[in-house]
Amino acid sequence: MNIILIGFRGTGKTTIGKMLSQRLGMEFIDADEYLEGKKGKSIKDIFSEGGEKLFREIEMQVIAELCLCNDRVIATGGGVVLREENIRQLRRCGVIVLLEAGADTIYKRIRGDGTSQQRRPGLTDRGEYQEIEYLLEFRKPLYDKVADFVLDTTRVSPGDAANKIITFLRAHALGFKKSNQKERS
Ligand code: S3P
Repeated sequence: MNIILIGFRGTGKTTIGKMLSQRLGMEFIDADEYLEGKKGKSIKDIFSEGGEKLFREIEMQVIAELCLCNDRVIATGGGVVLREENIRQLRRCGVIVLLEAGADTIYKRIRGDGTSQQRRPGLTDRGEYQEIEYLLEFRKPLYDKVADFVLDTTRVSPGDAANKIITFLRAHALGFKKSNQKERS
């Protein structure tokens, strides 16, 4: 079983995913990093060449490939839920953990992350903060729909977040897909 982290940019998927993988002794894969390695280009360059449309096509291939793996912690890009096919694949191959955070926190984290320039091209013609607010609202129902477990990381350290996810997995991972329950923390 894989552990799949979804959520908007800056919610902590990569940082928490790495910690989770260390604590569980599972391999960590960052889908965006994998995509960039596979194409030999930054996400920004892919957007420059073929726009978001090209990026989403490549992202879909990458998700299908990664879903062939087992026992990995997989951090996905923030827009992975935009394609129905990705959702179908992810549901099939793992437990889906949604990380959330408020717009102010996300804005600060994105600004403070040195990889944002290459990995996070603009997605709308809005200002940075307005884009976050707009897309958070637009995507929220998509994220909620697929999540098995939801964790707000606004006031939680990455270590504590990883522990909360582990507690959830220990309590529910076996058989919880069948009972279709969703938990919040
Ligand atoms: C995107 C988020 C990015 C990356 C790409 C598109 C999005 O990943 O996949 O820039 O649509 O929200 P992170 O969520 O890791 O920043």
